[in-house]
Amino acid sequence: MSGSTDAAFRRQAVRFGAEAVVSEMVAGETLAMARPDVVRRTCRHEGKGRWIVQLAARRPEDMRRGAELLAEAGVDQIDINMGCPSRQVTGGQSGSALMKEPDLAKAIIDAALEGAGGLPVSLKMRLGWDSDMLNAPELAQYAEHVGLCMLAVHGRTRCQYYKGQADWARVSDTVNAVALPVVVNGDIGSVEDADKALQQSGAHGVMVGRSAVGRPWMLGEISAHLAGRTNWSEPSAAEKHESLIEQIEDSMTLYGTCLGLRIVRKHISASIDWLANDWSDTERREIRSAACKFVEPAPLFDFLNRVYADKWSVAA
Ligand SMILES: Cc1cc2nc3c(=O)[nH]c(=O)nc-3n(C[C@H](O)[C@H](O)[C@H](O)COP(=O)(O)O)c2cc1C
Repeated sequence: MSGSTDAAFRRQAVRFGAEAVVSEMVAGETLAMARPDVVRRTCRHEGKGRWIVQLAARRPEDMRRGAELLAEAGVDQIDINMGCPSRQVTGGQSGSALMKEPDLAKAIIDAALEGAGGLPVSLKMRLGWDSDMLNAPELAQYAEHVGLCMLAVHGRTRCQYYKGQADWARVSDTVNAVALPVVVNGDIGSVEDADKALQQSGAHGVMVGRSAVGRPWMLGEISAHLAGRTNWSEPSAAEKHESLIEQIEDSMTLYGTCLGLRIVRKHISASIDWLANDWSDTERREIRSAACKFVEPAPLFDFLNRVYADKWSVAA
């Protein structure tokens, strides 16, 4: 997820047992401009597990060039973005807007495969553009025909943005249309949700986005559950604390102290939301708000030491 699942977050997801992580979306044109910060920040890989980078483009030539550059950089897999509903992206006809123009979408898929030069290529999409155009199964069949390796389907249309509930059952139309592995996505926040999403969609796996922010260990819990491993146990508060500190440090290394602290705030906030303490809503809000005001790491770390020891106080 752009702006959330950066390299600092992905490191924690892998640490706690996520089976695979995908980079934030990167535009083919941006890669072609060879901006070193993009490769360093967005595409960075820990060296553990498969290195999967997601590419978005509105022109086949940008997709092709972006895929070539990623292949040269040594990634293991390229994922095509046809799921992003943002007007900035769809306005430029990429992301989920491509689902409204199947011919262009197919040309983008072809271009990704050409640029990837034999690397596995996967596709992330929505159910379709709107309820009158639920064409994920058609695109899936094309993707299978030309040789993509995997599909992920978010159970909403582009026009739904994030409204309502993801329709896991509707994802089964895609699962039934192809023999390729299909991953179901949208509103999965627990092992129970993962079970329901798999049962309703018939998909081969689950993809989790928003609900892992602030609790990356939940991905490991779902992985362990789906693999039938019964020995998973929730990390202690000390491990969660250590993970958050590592993520903050990584964020500062990636972006510099000032920007790094600003970017990691949403993760600090979400981590505080998921801390099991008997704080009232007001107290939790105060803690979150105080934690997000620090502009230097030392006092932030000191504050978090006290929060995780439940000995916090917020100065008036
Ligand atoms: C802030 C934000 C950024 C996102 N960025 C991306 C992205 O870069 N690539 C992508 O495929 N999906 C992106 N998504 C969509 C998510 O990957 C996912 O499909 C969607 O949030 C539904 O799954 P969830 O309920 O598990 O979050 C983004 C979603 C949000 C909220």
